[in-house]
Amino acid sequence: MNITALKGFKDILPEEALLWQRIEATARDVFQRFGFREIKVPILEKTTLFARSIGETTDIVEKEMYTFVDRNGESLTMRPEGTASVLRSFIEHSLHNQQPVQKLFTFGPMFRHERPQKGRLRQFHQISIEALGANQPELDIEIMAMASMVLTELGLSVSLEINSLGCPQCRPAFNQALLLFLEDKKDDLCEDCQRRRLKNPLRVLDCKNSHCQEHYRLAPSILDHLCPECASHFQTVQDGLTSLEIPFTTNSFMVRGLDYYTRTTFELLTDSLGAQSAVGAGGRYDGLIKQLGGPDLPGIGFAMGMERLVLMLQQQATDQALPASGLFIAALGDKARAAGFAMAQALRRRGLQVLMDYAGASLKSQMKQAGKQNCRHTLIIGDDELERGEGTWRDMISRDQQAIPLPGELSAWSAMVVQRILSDQDS
Ligand code: HAM
Repeated sequence: MNITALKGFKDILPEEALLWQRIEATARDVFQRFGFREIKVPILEKTTLFARSIGETTDIVEKEMYTFVDRNGESLTMRPEGTASVLRSFIEHSLHNQQPVQKLFTFGPMFRHERPQKGRLRQFHQISIEALGANQPELDIEIMAMASMVLTELGLSVSLEINSLGCPQCRPAFNQALLLFLEDKKDDLCEDCQRRRLKNPLRVLDCKNSHCQEHYRLAPSILDHLCPECASHFQTVQDGLTSLEIPFTTNSFMVRGLDYYTRTTFELLTDSLGAQSAVGAGGRYDGLIKQLGGPDLPGIGFAMGMERLVLMLQQQATDQALPASGLFIAALGDKARAAGFAMAQALRRRGLQVLMDYAGASLKSQMKQAGKQNCRHTLIIGDDELERGEGTWRDMISRDQQAIPLPGELSAWSAMVVQRILSDQDS
């Protein structure tokens, strides 16, 4: 029986990997403009890190984590998201002592045992950013502007929804209002909501059950319960987005699937991916660093799902054919092949992409390979031609073909070929 990949775990084949490279390069470029620096953190962490940050009553912690006991009897978890790990590292290395505001980004795989479907995997990848150490609303605006710039530069259009989840000052009053609202509906709610109602009332609003959601349509709005500081923070965020001409709508039901958020939360949504509409999401988490044992510093961040970005790029067909590049050396005969291999190596040392056939195929077949591999030029050499000190140069786009001299020494050859390729690039 063939061994196949696990359900919800996906291979990224070379064709698709090109899109991944494009997304990563665009994100890196934009992040650099905003002063973000890369951090790399482990995939495996102690389970308590996620339980304490994401929240014991969230779907992620209750149902979705890949948790196991290792050979030392310790409970470990494959990270379901990046924020907790980056914050753990920030605290462990006292990064706040280096710079008052740390702006960090990371790329990598995350693991959640969800039901796989289009745009939803068990191993998925996030581009994740965190800005730690400033509580001003200007940072919230900048973070959303940065997310929207990445998407714009990728040629993707999404809508931005924002909300404020308040702070420890105003959240209790909202929880009370929500509890009151849920009181006469409690027996008609799903098991999860019944359980979460008393432990963490806000969490019920994140329920995926359509019957529960019917009830919650009339639930009180958190935006009506913000304290003056949170209300003013949220107003500044909205004014800032407006002045930067970043369109948004407010959605007071957006509570996010993780417990650590305070104040601003946001989601970047598309209607082109069916049920998995969130391409990216994030928000402020002003109490989380302290909660994890670090200094009392605020933070905000977001993550985008790579697989969802890739799907969008594939759907929008923004991916134009890549320009042809590199050289194919089509060698016919043993001597020519040996010379071709030596030449390929010499040219690669000079920075060129050079491909060859290894199987001693016919000229026709080698030309086909050159075309398939999108080579810009082909140099055809045969044993007899080589003896005469010449070869054939073919432009794979115009299909022009001409004899070229191949003077005795390899170094002279390779210099001449490089020259020819460069002059073709300029013309
Ligand atoms: P999240 O909303 O759980 O937030 O995930 C962020 C993004 O990751 C989603 O919008 C989606 O694009 C992608 N994503 C999540 N789960 C899956 C999945 N199973 N398959 C494919 N893509 C998925 C967080 O993870 C927070 N750590 C974001 C954050 C950073 N907040 C503050 N800083």
